[in-house]
Amino acid sequence: MERTFSIIKPDAVQAGHVAGILSEIEKAAFQIVAIRKMSLSKAQAAGFYAVHAQRPFFDSLTTFMSSGPIVAMVLEKPNAIADLRKLMGATNPANAEEGTIRRKFARSIEANAIHGSDGEDSAAFEIGYFFAGYELL
Ligand code: CMP
Repeated sequence: MERTFSIIKPDAVQAGHVAGILSEIEKAAFQIVAIRKMSLSKAQAAGFYAVHAQRPFFDSLTTFMSSGPIVAMVLEKPNAIADLRKLMGATNPANAEEGTIRRKFARSIEANAIHGSDGEDSAAFEIGYFFAGYELL
């Protein structure tokens, strides 16, 4: 079993796509280990995306991620990290394959509906950033 971390981003929550995205995730055989609807401050978004701090889009990204409620979750299945990345589709929805979450629900490279951890180290950091051990049993 492997765990990954995911966020349904403010664009998709605002547009009423939470149930649609969770349905795709469950159809793909992920178990939802933990889930929380919440809002991020800009500082909390900056901490989460600290690895991107030097990127030109960092300020815009953290403003966007703190612009409205998100749904943070921990997902589990064998090969969860790679399988979620595949299910999400390309970062830019213009390049996202047919049948992927971003192809269906994303608006732009920034407002791209969903985040998923890109590797084991980031999954461990991201799960720990949002959830305590006692919430992950
Ligand atoms: P995510 O998987 O959450 O990881 C970093 C995010 O930065 C990414 O999804 C996009 O939402 C955003 N991002 C990546 N590249 C760009 C870009 N060129 N312009 C704006 N946002 C970007």
